[in-house]
Amino acid sequence: MIMPMAEPPTTIRDMVHDDLPMVSDIERRSYEFPWSHGVFRDCLLAGYQNMVLVREEQVAGYAVLSVAAGEAHILNICVDPAYRARGYGEKLLDELLFRARAAQVRQIFLEVRPSNDTALALYRKKGFHQVANRPAYYQASEGREDAAVLAKKLVTDT
Ligand SMILES: CC(C)(COP(=O)(O)OP(=O)(O)OC[C@H]1O[C@@H](n2cnc3c(N)ncnc32)[C@H](O)[C@@H]1OP(=O)(O)O)[C@@H](O)C(=O)NCCC(=O)NCCS
Repeated sequence: MIMPMAEPPTTIRDMVHDDLPMVSDIERRSYEFPWSHGVFRDCLLAGYQNMVLVREEQVAGYAVLSVAAGEAHILNICVDPAYRARGYGEKLLDELLFRARAAQVRQIFLEVRPSNDTALALYRKKGFHQVANRPAYYQASEGREDAAVLAKKLVTDT
């Protein structure tokens, strides 16, 4: 009998400057309109909560969270196309929610393209719901695309 290969363990740690080539490479392979290397560098300089998911010493996913005034915004969450549908996106999102709660965040927001069924399914699974629509928010191959604004209330101890 052939046994399925066990998945190697993964860890999530803070993103550092040396991760940016791998992060930017995943970003370019994941989005039609990717963030530049400079945007990720600015996220590090801005002191956002930037993190990478590491698998066999390689970056396999990353996420960027900004926290201010009791609110948090998920600015990016992405998994290498080679490693999708293995729970890594959910693991990154769980880490974002954990860090937001630790920072006493009351509500966490994100924008997503209404056409991004995979991301929408992930967010809904984790309890996000749509609270607004931003017309013509995103660049698109033909004109502009709206953004759905999703939110999730977090229960804090205070
Ligand atoms: C969205 C993304 C991060 C999900 O990462 P992932 O590691 O593939 O997702 P997971 O394996 O953790 O799946 C978690 C949940 O997401 C949803 N999901 C994942 N892949 C899906 C697919 N192909 N179709 C529908 N839903 C899917 C499911 O709800 C899944 O839960 P389940 O396994 O219990 O059904 C990944 O597809 C990605 O990087 N996409 C490109 C970047 C992007 O669009 N980011 C979001 C910007 S707003």
